[in-house]
Amino acid sequence: MASAPVPALDFDPNDLITPSNYGVGGQPHAIWSQLREHSPVHRVESDSHPPFYAITRHADIMDISSKPNIFSNREGPMLLDHAVLDRRAQNPDEFGQMRTIIEMDPPEHRDYRKVASGFFTPRSIHRLDEIVAESARKMVDNLGDEGEADFVEVISQRHPLRVLATILGLGPDVEDILLELTQQLFASEDPDLQRPGEDRAEASRQLIAEFGALFTKIIEDRRANPTDDLASMLANAKMADGSPMGPIETFGYYLIVFTAGHDTTRNAISGGMQALLENPDQLRKLCANPTDALAKSTVEEVVRWTSPVNYMRRHLLEDVELHGVRMKAGEDLIMYYASANRDDSVFDRPFEFDIERHPNRHLGFGTGEHFCLGAHVARLSSRALFLELANRIEVMEPAGDPAHIASSFVVGLKSLPVRYKIRPAA
Ligand code: HEM
Repeated sequence: MASAPVPALDFDPNDLITPSNYGVGGQPHAIWSQLREHSPVHRVESDSHPPFYAITRHADIMDISSKPNIFSNREGPMLLDHAVLDRRAQNPDEFGQMRTIIEMDPPEHRDYRKVASGFFTPRSIHRLDEIVAESARKMVDNLGDEGEADFVEVISQRHPLRVLATILGLGPDVEDILLELTQQLFASEDPDLQRPGEDRAEASRQLIAEFGALFTKIIEDRRANPTDDLASMLANAKMADGSPMGPIETFGYYLIVFTAGHDTTRNAISGGMQALLENPDQLRKLCANPTDALAKSTVEEVVRWTSPVNYMRRHLLEDVELHGVRMKAGEDLIMYYASANRDDSVFDRPFEFDIERHPNRHLGFGTGEHFCLGAHVARLSSRALFLELANRIEVMEPAGDPAHIASSFVVGLKSLPVRYKIRPAA
């Protein structure tokens, strides 16, 4: 099929992928709108990263995600920049020995996903209801009656961390170190959050060594004293043939579950509160009607609106032609969930934040083979928090400019100054 002519598109490709650009401008929605309309499979050549194809339409992401044997995860979920690739070429051991399920393809992926999927079913997660509600209550209590605070610091980064630590069976003493290491992992380009050190390869090695030391201690403990928490389940996991899960995969599971579980939810909650502040009619609606059902649809809209996992990368195992563009085996593409979540062929008024949106077929948790394993946990903990806030907010308003994290993969706010008055818990 002949390629359709692409109109000259006017944008800076670095805005699509370079972390520092996200730190300044946030997600590039205006560019994605142009791409969805005129160039849904767009080859991007930026200063910072190797070339890739930007996939921006909802339907294309659904289609690609249903073909994991062509669009592979084996090269990892993030597109690494030139600096990291050069460094890794010189320091092949920089990232240590870990392999996570997000880097696997079927059939192997299915075997490893099964190890933990039982833990994450809605029924299994349901037993956390009380714990999650209690955490939400305490977080809102921490605000006091009235004042000013950074919402990210006091609420949105603490609550998901508490929930995750509970699932994993970790004490509060581990929370601070886990928070710091996770930020250093996902915000390695943000000068305020990255691990300090001129030598970036060394900083990365130290980071992974610290994760490794933390995990080894917990794994050894849970093998000696198994409990019913997720850390025990993973430490003692057996594969379908009865053999124990290998050390590289066990470390990888720990890494993805200990980190992916709270940074993402934090960014959803902070971005959700920002959206409520920018749309006070929606905040009023939620506070006037603090039901489970409204909190539930609020969370879906928050995940659509914020899309904290901005993209996933896929690596082509075969030549594929899509919308007249020929992509070759060995090339990479990026599926921008955040763009799909503003696609007007799926969503009415996609640029309106509507907490009653129905249907809401967002791709914030992905779709297909790698659909977010922790989606029910993320939903439960965010819902409990928005419900608690809805019941207790008298006043909540901006008290300064929010700041974005310099990251293009897990994206969101690093601060959100607010002024508030809070009612005591009922
Ligand atoms: C609002 C919060 C969250 C968002 C937006 C989010 C988003 C995502 C996305 C987009 C994917 C990839 C899906 C794909 O490639 O199709 C993913 C995978 C994953 N997520 Fe989440 N996530 C969140 C919270 C969590 C939580 C709370 C946990 C664990 C407690 C978790 C654990 C995982 C794991 C283990 C995977 C890999 C699944 C696989 O490869 O099979 N996530 N998540």
